[in-house]
Amino acid sequence: MNTQSELKRLGLFDARVPRYTSYPTAPHFAPGVGAETFTSWIEAIPAKASISLYIHVPFCRRLCWFCACRTQGTSSDAPVIAYAEMLAAEIELLRRHLAPGVTLSRLHWGGGTPTLLMPDLMRNLADQVFDVVPLAEGGEFSVEIDPNEIDAARLDALAAAGMNRASIGVQDFDPEIQKTIGREQSYELTKQVADMIRDRGIKSLNADILYGLPHQTNDRIADSVGKLLTLSPDRVALYGYAHVPWMSRRQQLIPSDKIPTPEARLDLFETARKMFVDDGYAEVGIDHFARPADGLAIAQDKGALRRNFQGYTDDTATALIGLGASSISRFPQGFAQNASATAAHTKAIKEGRFSIHRGHVFGGDDLLRARIIEALMCDFHVSRPELLHDFNADPEVLEEMFQNAVAQFGDMLHLDAEGLSIPPRARPLTRLIARAFDAYDHAKAQHSAAV
Ligand SMILES: C[S@@+](CC[C@H](N)C(=O)[O-])C[C@H]1O[C@@H](n2cnc3c(N)ncnc32)[C@H](O)[C@@H]1O
Ligand code: SF4
Repeated sequence: MNTQSELKRLGLFDARVPRYTSYPTAPHFAPGVGAETFTSWIEAIPAKASISLYIHVPFCRRLCWFCACRTQGTSSDAPVIAYAEMLAAEIELLRRHLAPGVTLSRLHWGGGTPTLLMPDLMRNLADQVFDVVPLAEGGEFSVEIDPNEIDAARLDALAAAGMNRASIGVQDFDPEIQKTIGREQSYELTKQVADMIRDRGIKSLNADILYGLPHQTNDRIADSVGKLLTLSPDRVALYGYAHVPWMSRRQQLIPSDKIPTPEARLDLFETARKMFVDDGYAEVGIDHFARPADGLAIAQDKGALRRNFQGYTDDTATALIGLGASSISRFPQGFAQNASATAAHTKAIKEGRFSIHRGHVFGGDDLLRARIIEALMCDFHVSRPELLHDFNADPEVLEEMFQNAVAQFGDMLHLDAEGLSIPPRARPLTRLIARAFDAYDHAKAQHSAAV
């Protein structure tokens, strides 16, 4: 059997598996973690510790049809201004519970489109954050930038506020694909924005592109990757397009019959992958590429690559606090998620309380399984000595978990005294293999979010 038939037999082409940006994954969070638990976890952060913050801005000026992110369209500024006021109040609420001397390892603004904030709102938001938690030495401040929704004044504001990593959404440069996915953005505009970012001394540039889009062929993705390489991003996320029209209604505008077959998707990924590797990028985890000097490539070399809600990270902070509607926080004790609806989140903050309505408290073998899944997603290898030492794992229980995975995936896995490894030819199965260690995904549900 050739590799493609073997991957098919093991379920690669029909499974919708989570991306494992957390374990348990967000659909398994439950009520029971509320504002009280959340504040007790914040208060347990030691003085002078380093934490990370994620700020979610759930608005866009345009709603791209392909997009599965949680966001709402707005043409007026009023909801954006009201939201920025709410964030200021949420940051003040955080101040009340945070020990003195805490600094920021990472600050990330994501969305939606955080760059639709007006320049003065950007400056205020950054000032408010840094007043409560200043950026640590070597800390990173990154922002997701829609090239269609940025200009010199806003980039000036971000640069002055200390942004040192910019992440631009590209998706694909082909005009027919862009029309079909409802996201038109010329190469010229994208290049101009990349140049403006670098002209302001912002050191690091990330870009997101997609494979598996309607009308995408190997030639077309090669052309898009070639164009992207002329911008020389420091880091690239090459995500598989997740077509989930039952979750993201906008995607109903995308013709399903123009989406490449799963087998073609694999070829598209491989075409793009080869081009990045030939250009000197290091492959990072399942879907990232980074210049050798970039933090992700360095972390991967050191075995220090980690997985969080933004994907891969070299962040070492143990607490990541999410502000804004629907944001998720992670602490050593568990996960906590804010109310998803902007109105419900805003109401809670206006009343002087956090809006946390669900989450998960780590227990049982959660942390052991979380580490196995993270190690597979980051390193394609799980170290038996690390699990025995750091998690005090029972050797027999661990062996049984490994054997169960081997029974399912056969020679697509390599098991020895050192641990469990995924050889290169089996890497497209990584998410499926990770799922073999997911104790919550009993049904291995067909409708788990693939994004
Ligand atoms: C919050 S969005 C991008 C930020 C900014 N609003 C923009 O459009 O440039 C983050 C990324 O999620 C990815 N994304 C969105 N919908 C997706 C989908 N259906 N499948 C895979 N990736 C998706 C895109 O690559 C996108 O750049
Ligand atoms: S891709 Fe970006 S701009 Fe488009 S809808 Fe999604 S978050 Fe908004």
